[in-house]
This record gives sequence, structure tokens and C-alpha cells, in this order.
Amino acid sequence: MDKSKIIDLLNEDLEDEHGAIIQYLNHAYAMGEGEIACEIEAIARDEMRHLDWLAETIVELGGTPSLERGKMRMSGESTSTWMQNNVLLEEGAVKQYRKHIKIIDNPKIKRLLQRILSDEESHRSKFEHFVEKVQRERVKDRRGSRRDKVAQLLNWGIEHEYTVILQYLLHSYMSPNKEIKNQIEDQAINEMQHLGWLAEEMVGGGGKPKIEHTEVDQSPKTADMLRADIKIEKEVAAEYDRAAKEVEEADLKKLLLRLRDNEIYHVSVFSDLLKKEK
Ligand SMILES: [Fe+2]
Ligand SMILES: [Fe+2]
Ligand SMILES: [Fe+2]
Repeated sequence: MDKSKIIDLLNEDLEDEHGAIIQYLNHAYAMGEGEIACEIEAIARDEMRHLDWLAETIVELGGTPSLERGKMRMSGESTSTWMQNNVLLEEGAVKQYRKHIKIIDNPKIKRLLQRILSDEESHRSKFEHFVEKVQRERVKDRRGSRRDKVAQLLNWGIEHEYTVILQYLLHSYMSPNKEIKNQIEDQAINEMQHLGWLAEEMVGGGGKPKIEHTEVDQSPKTADMLRADIKIEKEVAAEYDRAAKEVEEADLKKLLLRLRDNEIYHVSVFSDLLKKEK
């Protein structure tokens, strides 16, 4: 099988991992605190590792990791239906990985997919178990319909954080320099925390996180990537700063200032990398 065909198959898997991550994060945030939400978040983290392995393999083969998101199963009112949807999503993943393991002839990639497959089988049985457990423990959708300025601000933040997570992951995968790669990935992980903080704040305040993203910078050259990353960080730091001054509620103000300070730190990390790259 030629490389480009393998790249296509792995990108299909990667897109589905991306969809699974967002589906599970939506569920975990909606349920709020509690053991099951934590377990679902842990499964989402497994999927992030899968996405990471797949992306690295795609780059090794000379490809570019896809930014598309696979189909999600987000219908259903009750948390029990959500868990059924998650079982179906995992079943789909199990089927697809089995198929890809069969047709890909590269032993190292086969092994990797086998490794991922065993996780998906374990996820499927966990979600099967959760279908009944969320009913028994009366786990509810804790999201509300808040749509005021604060809710708009939080969703704006979520959209930004999701965008930069994708952007920094892509830049990290595509960068040939080890130090730059690691540093950008570190900041992506920090942005994942930001997404979580904002989503939790949103649900806690009676709103509904909307996990969608805007355009991702896809510059092919490392220096251009870093320039784009610095630009977006400066913009968002200014926006968090402005918003922090506007909001009344003390905890929210604190959160926004913390985010602002993290973003200012990212500007300095990326600026140092850019100096070295030039
Ligand atoms: Fe996965
Ligand atoms: Fe899974
Ligand atoms: Fe951030």
C-alpha cells in the first residue's frame, strides 16, 4: 500500500478521534462535577493521545494531519441516551480500526492501531456500563440557557481556545525543530486547560458551552507559524484584559485575569522561539 493511501486512512481515524474528544468533552462539561464526568474526561484524554499518535505518524509518512472533525452523535435529551450514543461512536471506531489494521501492511502502524483498538474496546464497555449508571445516579444535564453578555464572552473565549488548541497542535506536528515542537505543544496543553475552565464557568453560571472553532493558521514555514501565534495571543490577551475590567463578578474577573496572564506568557515563549528561528 502506498504512503498516501495510508495517510488518508490515518487521517480518517484522526478526524474521528477529534469528533470523539469534542463529543465526550461536551458530555463531561454538561454533567459538571462528579465521578462519571471525571471518567468521561479521562476517556477524552485517551482520545487526545490517540489523536497525537496518529498525527505524529501521518507527519512521519510525509502527510499533514487533517483539521476536519469527524461526525459526532450529539442528539438525545437524557444523559443515558448520550451514553448510548457514545457506545455507538466507540463501536464505529472499533469497526474502523479493525478494518484499517487488516488493510494496512506496515507492521509498526498496524501495532499502533492495535494499541488504539484495545482502548476503544475498553471505552465501549465503560460507556455500556454508564448507560445504566447515569440513570441510577440521576446524572443530569446541568447546562442552562443563559444568553447574556457574560455567556457570550465565555463562548467567545471557548471558541478562541479551541481554535488555538488546533492551531498549536498543527504547528507543533509540522515543525521540524524539536524545541519549538515541544514548546508549542506545551502551550496547546495550557489552552486545553483554558477551554475547560471557561466551559466549567459557563455551566456553573447556567449557560451552555458551544465548542466550535474559527479559522486555523496553516502557514507552512515555522517563522510564519510563530508570527501567527504571537498575533493571536496578543489579541486575546488584550480582549481578556478588556473583559476583566468590564465584568462585575469577582471570580469571573479573577479567571479572566489569569487567562490574560497565561496568554501574555505565551507571547513571550513564542517571541523567544521566533528570535531563535530567525
Ligand atoms: Fe480513540
Ligand atoms: Fe474511544
Ligand atoms: Fe488560552
